[in-house]
Amino acid sequence: MAFALTPEREQEVDDILTRYPERRAALLPVLWLCQRQNGWISPEVVEYVAERLELSTAIIKGVVTFYTMFFDEPVGENVVWVCRTLSCDLRGGKAIQDHLEKKLGCTAGHTSSDGKFTVLKAECLAACGQAPMVQINDYYYENLNVEQLDRILDAHATKGGEAAAAEFSTFASFGSPRGSGGGSATSAPPPPTKEAVRLASQPPPPGDTTGEDA
Ligand code: FES
Repeated sequence: MAFALTPEREQEVDDILTRYPERRAALLPVLWLCQRQNGWISPEVVEYVAERLELSTAIIKGVVTFYTMFFDEPVGENVVWVCRTLSCDLRGGKAIQDHLEKKLGCTAGHTSSDGKFTVLKAECLAACGQAPMVQINDYYYENLNVEQLDRILDAHATKGGEAAAAEFSTFASFGSPRGSGGGSATSAPPPPTKEAVRLASQPPPPGDTTGEDA
């Protein structure tokens, strides 16, 4: 079945196209809009973008496979990026990954059987000062230990991404997560909550700090 954006997002595409002298320059923001609606860049999305921007499907597939934040296969309702670069690993990043995999029953690169979470390893997400951290959808959760992580995952599973982020997130990297009905890459992030400020000011978690790789 052919992919189509909602009328609101079609209007956003029209607005994006006015910013650039060439249609192909709008490729990244248009792909973001499509992924926010569809969850991943399916073959039907590739066809849609190719037609809308007058590009070949090969160019679009090349871009999608180059950038790790575009998904070329289906992912769970929530995507958990666990940072495994040096600062996070020195402060328990491997223990965070191990706990995620055990709790969700899937290894990094895979999706939990209930479809709620996909776990992915990430290179430095630029929050080294608050390591260890994970990004879930568009939101950062920093200075973590496994107990906090459990509360955050449970909130995402039961209350939804926006409610979980409002309660626990320390930073929003983009706008609202997909399915929220809004969400543009230029939305202002919400201010940190009291809980977020408390988590961010806690001392480093005990436990695995060897940085041993998986
Ligand atoms: S090493 Fe994890 S945010 Fe930089």
